[in-house]
Amino acid sequence: MISDMNGGVPPRPKGFLYLDHAATAWPKAPGVGAAMSDALTAYGSPGRGGHRLSTLGGQLVERVRQRVANLLGMAGSDRVVFTPGATYSLAFALQGLLKRGDHVIATSFDHSSVLRSLEQLRRYHGVLVTVVRHNAADDTLVDAVAADIRPQTRLICVNHASNVTGAILPCSALIELAHRQGAHVLVDASQSIGHVTFDLAELPADMVAFGGHKALLGPAGVGCLAIANPDIRLTPTVTGGTGYDSGNLDPHLVTPSSYEVGTLNVPAIAGLEAALVFREHGNPRAQQFALTALREDCIWHSHLRLPGAIGADRVVQPRWLASRTSKCRPRWRSPNPNACRSSLCSTCSHRPWHGPLRLCPRQFRLGR
Ligand SMILES: Cc1ncc(COP(=O)(O)O)c(C=O)c1O
Repeated sequence: MISDMNGGVPPRPKGFLYLDHAATAWPKAPGVGAAMSDALTAYGSPGRGGHRLSTLGGQLVERVRQRVANLLGMAGSDRVVFTPGATYSLAFALQGLLKRGDHVIATSFDHSSVLRSLEQLRRYHGVLVTVVRHNAADDTLVDAVAADIRPQTRLICVNHASNVTGAILPCSALIELAHRQGAHVLVDASQSIGHVTFDLAELPADMVAFGGHKALLGPAGVGCLAIANPDIRLTPTVTGGTGYDSGNLDPHLVTPSSYEVGTLNVPAIAGLEAALVFREHGNPRAQQFALTALREDCIWHSHLRLPGAIGADRVVQPRWLASRTSKCRPRWRSPNPNACRSSLCSTCSHRPWHGPLRLCPRQFRLGR
């Protein structure tokens, strides 16, 4: 654990226990806030001019792109696309790749950002979608996916680590299976990146999507889509200004700029850089699941008890706190009753709490 790198992280309020790291990390890595704040005055809009601030902005973006490529073990950085977050990365990949008549396989482990995108593609764009319903994140899942492969199968979606149970999926076997059948693989690494090493040399996924704000300890507002397979040409989901060739309305595909239309979120990219630098300088051992951090937290909060063993292949343990939910229920009540039907208020006191409780410890000792 990195206990001596708390610079810039405020101490936690006494008695405060944050176990929602799978939703977003708290606090962020040291230096993230400062980098974001500095970016407001240090940079202009990258690629939008030859002046100093724009050039500096461009240099920042390319530097961070290279850091992301290094993180993934990618040979070059030009196929790393910055997006507003994991949801957008996944949508860009799915909507950009799949065409009428293509078949795609997802599993019940996939996040709603994948499943809802696929449902949209099925309903309105004639994409054939199979969602394999399976409970076990082991080789039996690979067999279940294999049974659904058809000649038209273009893509298999894999959630690297489940956002519900924390289980790590058999990514390598699924990639092997897909490639044997001539299909591509999109890995949703939103929950795993930062927790476990993701090296494209070992896990040769065709595309990898993730956001910066979970285990990477970066800010919200920036995500990445790594299009590792150079044969993949996605149709851009959003088109707009790229800063060059503005008179030309022909669809042209230049990676990454054709996918980074509009003004980039430079402060978030600067914050992501600070988070990546923190990782690069950190103790590599601390980059694995640090369940001891959760145990220490629970000892500190003596009214909480960890049941039995929590496997090192999981980061969350649903249910065991379910009987203690009254303590955990949010006190905030939305003034807008419609918000109860939205995610903004999904566990608020407007309706009884039910379902599993997800407990997600952090990897690092930060801010104590
Ligand atoms: C597995 C998985 N995929 C995608 C997402 C979407 O991430 P974001 O909300 O940051 O866009 C999440 C977020 O919880 C996730 O857990």
